[in-house]
Amino acid sequence: MPWPPSHDMKKMRRTVIISKAHFGTLADGTGVDVWTVSCGPLVLKALSYGGTVQSLEVPDRHGRSANIALGYDSIERYVAGTTYFGALIGRYGNRIADGRFTLDGMTYQLPVNNGPNSLHGGDRGFDKRVWDIEPYAKGEDTGLTLRYVSEDGEQGYPGRLTVKVDYILTRDAQWRIDYAATTDKPTLANFTQHTYFNLTGAASGAAVHDHELRLAASRYTPVDADLIPTGELAPVDGTPFDFRAGKALGHDIRDSQQLLNAHGIDHNFVLDKGITAAPEPIARFTDGTSGRTLTVSTTEPGVQLYTGNFLDGSGYRQGAGFAFETQHFPDSPNRPAFPSTVLRPGQTYRTSTVYAFGVF
Ligand code: BGC
Repeated sequence: MPWPPSHDMKKMRRTVIISKAHFGTLADGTGVDVWTVSCGPLVLKALSYGGTVQSLEVPDRHGRSANIALGYDSIERYVAGTTYFGALIGRYGNRIADGRFTLDGMTYQLPVNNGPNSLHGGDRGFDKRVWDIEPYAKGEDTGLTLRYVSEDGEQGYPGRLTVKVDYILTRDAQWRIDYAATTDKPTLANFTQHTYFNLTGAASGAAVHDHELRLAASRYTPVDADLIPTGELAPVDGTPFDFRAGKALGHDIRDSQQLLNAHGIDHNFVLDKGITAAPEPIARFTDGTSGRTLTVSTTEPGVQLYTGNFLDGSGYRQGAGFAFETQHFPDSPNRPAFPSTVLRPGQTYRTSTVYAFGVF
């Protein structure tokens, strides 16, 4: 059921509020803010550090709100963390094999921070940068505009990249993310958002393996032991990756060599709709305990479903949240057959993803 549910939501319809407070200070003295945006039934808190969504409050089927996004309560934990809780990811979401790619005849070496590969933009990607934030308002929608300029050569990537990301909350319980970027030299761009959701509640202690997922993807990109795609777009038919008819996230989670490679699901799905000009629905998660639902729409051709396999030691346990990272496919710069992630001067990178909440 889309928002609002049948019971009386009027009391919950808070007026739009945007506020800013000091969150912490980095070792170099830079202050980090926490912004709070409240619109309709949602309350989102985002940090200037990493554009990180620290929490997202969403009502359950009884109208009771709880935070459903995994996060930390201090800046020190975000700086030390390797989980990418809530973070904006760039310049390249997911892995690039050996941290190396060739573009227009030039070979570039990126920092290697995940086994032999470069993950999520390198060891100081967008998630470890301080973003400029200002309030966003359009019609009934409200939110934040985040800006960051990534200098030529930063983390090994060519070109000065000017990035703008809007986090938009709508009155009917949607969180929409609009990404935009331009460059002064040919480069790569493949951004995503790394919030880990637990629809029962981040503090509930429940594992997400009981959440049901329905996902419109007939193929996925199998990976090697270092989680680099083999290049194949393999059918999900008869594999644990077939979520087309809907099933629990944990249903077959130990059932194939692919899942052993990743300690669970940590794979990119090839969305049947392909790249689209406007966000189209691709997936729906439902949680029987809270009654919350999450419907995801995107312009992107792929999505990484990550079931929190490496969360031990973060203060949360394995499976305490899932990330659902809309994106182009991993290692695209080294896979000419995959949709391109190259951005050239004069072009504008634009993608959008919508996380829409409801109840059943
Ligand atoms: C990756 C995982 C990685 C995690 C880091 C995910 O996007 O696919 O392999 O461990 O990010 O928290």
